[in-house]
Amino acid sequence: MKHTKVRDLLNSTTTLQEVNAKGWVRTFRNNQFIALNDGSTINNIQCVVDFENTPDETLKRITTGAAISVIGTLIESKGAGQKYEIQVNKLEILGDSDAEKFPIQPKNKPSLDFLRENAHLRVRTNMFGAIMRVRSVLSFAVHNYFQRKGFVYVNTPIITGSDAEGAGEMFKVTALPFDNTPRTEDGKVNYKEDFFEKETNLTVSGQLEGETYAMALGQIYTFGPTFRAENSNTSRHLAEFWMIEPEVAFNNLDDNMDLAEDFIQYVIKYALDHCQDDLKFLEGRLLDEEKSKPQAERSEMALLEKLNFVLENNFKRVSYTEAIDILRDSTPNKKKKFQYIINEWGADLQSEHERYLVEKHFKCPVILFDYPANIKAFYMRLNDNTEPGRETVRAMDILFPGIGEIVGGSEREERYDVLVEKMKALEIDEEELSWYLDTRRFGSATHAGFGLGFERLVLFVTGMTNIRDVIPFPRTPGNAEF
Ligand code: 4AD
Ligand code: MG
Repeated sequence: MKHTKVRDLLNSTTTLQEVNAKGWVRTFRNNQFIALNDGSTINNIQCVVDFENTPDETLKRITTGAAISVIGTLIESKGAGQKYEIQVNKLEILGDSDAEKFPIQPKNKPSLDFLRENAHLRVRTNMFGAIMRVRSVLSFAVHNYFQRKGFVYVNTPIITGSDAEGAGEMFKVTALPFDNTPRTEDGKVNYKEDFFEKETNLTVSGQLEGETYAMALGQIYTFGPTFRAENSNTSRHLAEFWMIEPEVAFNNLDDNMDLAEDFIQYVIKYALDHCQDDLKFLEGRLLDEEKSKPQAERSEMALLEKLNFVLENNFKRVSYTEAIDILRDSTPNKKKKFQYIINEWGADLQSEHERYLVEKHFKCPVILFDYPANIKAFYMRLNDNTEPGRETVRAMDILFPGIGEIVGGSEREERYDVLVEKMKALEIDEEELSWYLDTRRFGSATHAGFGLGFERLVLFVTGMTNIRDVIPFPRTPGNAEF
């Protein structure tokens, strides 16, 4: 007999004579009521055991975490909370779970820290089941959005020779031995003897390769893992994270902002439409978590309200220069409450500033654009008509409440001479990026794109507060368990 998913049983429109369900026991009450979950939904199906006719031996083995198979009748439930339940006729233990040893005991309310250490088992909790289902639906929504618009999905390399962001935060990839490393005459590591016969690293972004494809296919997007060896031990940074990078030929910065806003609203709407039960559960979790916070730190909106707010309101578009004026005149700046005081134009914005703008000043998602050239990457387009000493680039960052930066993007510098000059100034190897410069040598045109950090999106949609809780097996400084 084929088993039926719990979700389908709970959504049944009639009672059924004989059904088979398989899953893991969440709880077992009164020697009679099993809450069974198989991961297909956050909801458990109640399985009612006829304990008088079930051997004691078997009853003892119905423990939290055990895998079981039940055959029985799907009947209307007399109890509150569910429409249907299974009246069990036959029960088989598929895999025991020692109640003394199974670490995920619902009664103990395991902490998020404890669950992180047990990342392989935390997915057996309601919370992580919900998060991972939402994550999966969001990734489908990402593909859906771009595919419906005719974007081509491009797989850019994971091992690369270039540093796309020029920030030098790369993990080296090498097959050279650590002892007896081959050296050149001047004592440097001789990468000519390495696997790729050159220095390579894990990609920090697929953008540069993506641009070459956009300049042929028109509209492309990537969706893949990226790696950063930045030593940021924060609740917003991972060493391995997934990034979505669309790149569109003939788009300027305004088009780029429109695309990013429309895309984010689409995927959030998709999650709202397809993850109702999970999001409702996560909303409750967030309310619970916030109860332990002082009133002033609690969010003004519940999760679903916050998601709907983002759908229904335009993102506020503000230039860097306007933002600096707002920050300079802000109360926390005057009262020296910011760790980094904003004194003059040109200052890089820290997350405290971004959060002030989004959460206190505008109270909605914000797109900051036209940043000072010298705090942004080399490939961004220099604005025409900028004052000498106050050069700006056509960059944009999208800032979200509770998250900070969720998107970074720009219109690209399409002018060969200007780009080469910028690379020279930053001592970026032209030889190494000669292939990239070909896009500007042959048929160059205005183009623009952005990168959205997928985990930051999942954080926002699930209302979780630590990025380690929205990726199955997080990689952070000092942690690569599993
Ligand atoms: O702003 P970033 O560094 O931009 C780029 O990589 C560009 N090449 C994108 C492009 O224009 N195609 O990163 C983009 C986004 C950030 O806004 C953030 O959401 C996320 O990637 N991100 C991280 N997410 C988790 N952990 C980290 N360490 C992250 N670093 C960036
Ligand atoms: Mg950025």
